[in-house]
Amino acid sequence: MRPVDIIYKKRNGEINTKEEIEFMINGYVNGQIPDYQVSAWLMAIYFNGMTKEERYHLTMVMRDSGDIIDLSGIKGIKIDKHSTGGVGDKTTLAVGPLVASAGLKVSKLSGRGLGHTGGTIDKLEAIPGFQTAISKDEFFKIANEVGMVVAGQTGNIAPADKKIYALRDVTATVDEISLISASIMSKKLAVGSDGIVLDVKTGSGAFMKNINDAIELAKSMVEIAELNNRKIVALVTNMDQPLGDNVGNSLEVLEAIETLKGKGPEDFTELCIELGANMLDLSGLYTYENAKKILKENIENGKALEVMRNWIKSQGGNEKVVDNPEEILPISKEIVEFRAEEDGFISHIDTEKVGIASMVLGAGRKKKEDEIDYSVGIKILKKLGVKVSKGDIIAKLYVSDKSNVKEALDLLKAAYKITSNPPKEEKMKLIYEKIV
Ligand code: URA
Repeated sequence: MRPVDIIYKKRNGEINTKEEIEFMINGYVNGQIPDYQVSAWLMAIYFNGMTKEERYHLTMVMRDSGDIIDLSGIKGIKIDKHSTGGVGDKTTLAVGPLVASAGLKVSKLSGRGLGHTGGTIDKLEAIPGFQTAISKDEFFKIANEVGMVVAGQTGNIAPADKKIYALRDVTATVDEISLISASIMSKKLAVGSDGIVLDVKTGSGAFMKNINDAIELAKSMVEIAELNNRKIVALVTNMDQPLGDNVGNSLEVLEAIETLKGKGPEDFTELCIELGANMLDLSGLYTYENAKKILKENIENGKALEVMRNWIKSQGGNEKVVDNPEEILPISKEIVEFRAEEDGFISHIDTEKVGIASMVLGAGRKKKEDEIDYSVGIKILKKLGVKVSKGDIIAKLYVSDKSNVKEALDLLKAAYKITSNPPKEEKMKLIYEKIV
C-alpha cells in the first residue's frame, strides 16, 4: 500500500477501505507516513467527507491506538456525558452529583480548556485542595463509594487523535464532521461506560455555528456509537449565549453549587435536568419523566448537594466550599462593569468573544503552558432578549491584572448587539433536537 494511492482515492471522492484507513493512521502514529501526506489526506476528507463505515473505521483505529479503560471494577450503571464545548459550560460539575444522587455511577475523564472554551479539570482545580491527578485505584474507590469521580484524561487515550488533532489545527481541517466525530468518539469509546449522553452545542460560542451542521454531527456520533453497540443519546443545544450567568473557573464552580441548592440560573438548571434525565433514562433506572421528577426532588431535598460535598472531599478538596463558596473559592474582589451604550433589546451575543474576553482576563490559556487565574471571569447580568437602557450593567468583569481589562471590554462591546427589536424566539431556545 502507498499513502499516495489512498490520498488519490479520497481526493477523487472514492471510499477508503478499513485497511487503507488503518494504514494511514497507524503509519502516521508510527512516524512512517509524514505530516504532508496525512495533511493532504485530511484535506481530501474535508472536501469529500466520509461514509458512515469510513467514519466508524477511522474512530476505531484511533481508539485502538491507545489504552482502553475497563470500568467493570465500578459497581452499578455507568453513563458518560460529553459536551462538544462552549462558554460557561460547567454542566459536569452539577449534573454529575445530580445523577449520582439518583443512583448512577459517574466516572469521568475530562480535559482542560484551550482557547475560548473552558475545561472541567481547570474548573475543579479552582477548589482549594482538589486533586484531579489520582491513581486508578483511587478513581475506582471514589466511584464506588461516592458515585462520582473526575480525573484528568491521560495522554494515552487515543494518542492518534492527539497527533491528528494537532495537525488538523494547523491545516484548516478541524471543522469537518467525519473528523470531529471520529476525534470525539475515539476518546469516548475508549472508556467502557454503559452509555453516553452527548451535548452537541450549536451557535456563536460553539464549534458548529450552524444548527444543521450540529444535527449532522450529532447523528454521525450516534451512528458511530451504535455500530459499536454502545447506547447513546445526543441533545443539540443552544450556545448562542453563555450557559448560565457565570464564565470563569471559580465563578462557574460557584454557579454549579448554587444550582444544586436550587438557586441556579433557569437555563443552566433546565439543561442539567434534561441531560440528567436522559442519562437516567438511558441507564434503564428510571423513565425519562420519573427521572426528571427525582432529579428536581434531589435538588430540593439537598441529596445532590451532599453527593457534591462527598465527591469534593474524597478528591482532597475543601468540602466546606459547598456551604460558603464565596469565602472559599478564589474570586477577585476587583470588579469592572460593562454597561449598555444604548437603549434596546439584546438581540445577539457573539458568545465566542465572551469566552475570549474571559480568557484574556486570565481564566483560560492562550498557549498550553499558560497559568490560569481561577479568580477572574465574567458574570453576565443581561442575556438575549432582555430590554436594556443606556447605562445598565450588562456584565461584571472580575479582574486581577488591570492591563487586560481594555481588551476584554472591547471584546464584550463587539460581542453584544443592541437593537430596537428582540431576537427571534428560536435563538433563545435551549434544546433544539434530540437524536437517538
Ligand atoms: N473536540 C474534539 O475532541 N475533537 C474535535 O475534533 C473537536 C472537538
